[in-house]
Amino acid sequence: MTSRAEPLDAVDLRGPITGSTAAVVGLQWGDEGKGKIIDVLAGGFDAVVRYNGGANAGHSVVIGGERFAVHLVPSGIFHPGVAAIIGNGCVVDPWLLVEEARGLAERGIDVGGLALSSRAHLVLPHHKLQDAHREAWLATRDASIGTTKRGIGPTYADKANRSSSLRVGHLLDGDRLRDRVEAALAEKRALLGDDLGADGDAAALTERLAEVGRELEPWITDTTYLLHGLLRSGGRVLFEGANATLLDVDHGTFPFVTSSNCSALGIPAGTGVPGRLVDGVVGVLKAYSTRVGAGAFPTELEGPTAERIRERGREYGTTTGRPRRCGWLDLVAVRYAAMLNGGSCLALTLLDVLGGFDELRICTAYRLTNGSTTERFLPDALDLEDVEPAYETLPGFDGEVGGLRERDALPAAARRYVDRIEEIVGVPVGIVSVGPDRDESIIARDRLPQACARSLPAAG
Ligand code: IMP
Repeated sequence: MTSRAEPLDAVDLRGPITGSTAAVVGLQWGDEGKGKIIDVLAGGFDAVVRYNGGANAGHSVVIGGERFAVHLVPSGIFHPGVAAIIGNGCVVDPWLLVEEARGLAERGIDVGGLALSSRAHLVLPHHKLQDAHREAWLATRDASIGTTKRGIGPTYADKANRSSSLRVGHLLDGDRLRDRVEAALAEKRALLGDDLGADGDAAALTERLAEVGRELEPWITDTTYLLHGLLRSGGRVLFEGANATLLDVDHGTFPFVTSSNCSALGIPAGTGVPGRLVDGVVGVLKAYSTRVGAGAFPTELEGPTAERIRERGREYGTTTGRPRRCGWLDLVAVRYAAMLNGGSCLALTLLDVLGGFDELRICTAYRLTNGSTTERFLPDALDLEDVEPAYETLPGFDGEVGGLRERDALPAAARRYVDRIEEIVGVPVGIVSVGPDRDESIIARDRLPQACARSLPAAG
């Protein structure tokens, strides 16, 4: 199998593809618990690959009661021997990556399996400044997006602009690095004026970047060749979606979205692996809905029900600490997201949070202002503002579900809730997560994509 230690030239691209792949993506507005699902599945893969986004994501994983949160490092890092690859479609704050890797190493996690695409773009200090300034300016017009202020949008914008962006590979070539920094800062200054702070000095920024580049150097490689080599030597690759489908810049609730293709549609461009090689997609949804930041949210709740979900589900941002907006499960939105991703199965998370409610509601259609009803999602944020959710009411369930490992053992009302999700979305539920720990999962192996089913320990 090709690893970073072996020369990428050794990859024979004429050989057949004997490896397999799967993807884990979010079907709502993020924070669905993808980190946990990836962690459950990752052990049987050779690599876990991030293909989009940056440190705006926050994936938490609980192992033996200890909680870890990663923003840039793929969640597969918690499995020794599994490569954790940051693909070209990601935007990388180099200092944050070093800090995150160091923090993990200090807690005993082996980060030797990290690989970072030389073609990923760098989030620089001025991108974060721009993000913050723009949000502040938008706020004066009551129009903020509510970004994480991690510089994500400005970095992707510079990638599209081309002249003002730096890629990870530039860190390793002193002359090119200096030229790119000077060009980027000259352009920023021409467009933004002199407000670039200490990092507006090209020589100082070049030096800081060269220094962080030396720390990242062992991990920097051509991840596209690395992945194709893996797939030609029988390797198994798991793609890790960050953010989520309804935040996808093309297919989400524009303009209240992030700046990348977060659905499985982003995998080919974000890794260099063709879409036809994505063998199966696990779509993750939580048993209710949440959203951070601005934008339409048809099933949003206020008052004690929202409070109860927020407290029981610990619905506070992993990246920003902001309280998340909470609401009932919106299956119109989930069905749309499953359609876009070609979902092979669903992973339902945080079912335990809904325990103890008298009744539960799921949104199955939208009522429009003209009095008609539709089962179609309206991805334009302004159209979505105007819909009213049409609910189906289901009985609530009681009791601790955390200890259960069989779907049949769930209380009848909880089982009914899961069954209705399957019926309405039209995609089988392969995993029900009933608690934060790796082990607190009900898994139907026969419903998972093949590459995932093989990765699990012997049936139980
Ligand atoms: P940005 O990605 O920081 O530009 O933020 C754009 C929008 O996406 C904001 O509403 C964020 O709160 C939201 N967002 C970005 N990443 C995530 C995520 O991983 N989980 C939930 N919301 C996110």
